[in-house]
Amino acid sequence: MKKLVRFGVSLEKDLLGKFDKLIKSENYPNRSEAFRDIIREKLIKTEWKSGKNVAGAITLVYDHHKRDLLNVLTDIQHDHHALIISGQHIHLDHNNCLEIIIVKGSPNEITGLANRLKSAKGVKFGQLSMATTGSGIA
Ligand code: NI
Repeated sequence: MKKLVRFGVSLEKDLLGKFDKLIKSENYPNRSEAFRDIIREKLIKTEWKSGKNVAGAITLVYDHHKRDLLNVLTDIQHDHHALIISGQHIHLDHNNCLEIIIVKGSPNEITGLANRLKSAKGVKFGQLSMATTGSGIA
């Protein structure tokens, strides 16, 4: 187990009140756990800026009846096959599909792939969820 270090933080009473309210609404058991997550979030944002290997998920919602859209989305994914670990396609209803594409690699390449997919004509929703490979994040 990693060694824990205690340290003091000074901040305005009002700000601490808002922090406590926020973490209570998010079900954190205590300030320490919330603080750890905030630090990790910052570290992950830095990872995405630094060009280190990252992981993430691209979520798409689209109407599979749209002319040529499935071919376009498949072609784009084949162009970036080295980034894609896995994918899942769910038929939401008669028309709409939800696809989740799990990616790992360079942040720039992943962002480029996500932008190409999101901007394909007929895609109703596209979002890149920026996660981490976990290595380097305590
Ligand atoms: Ni479908």
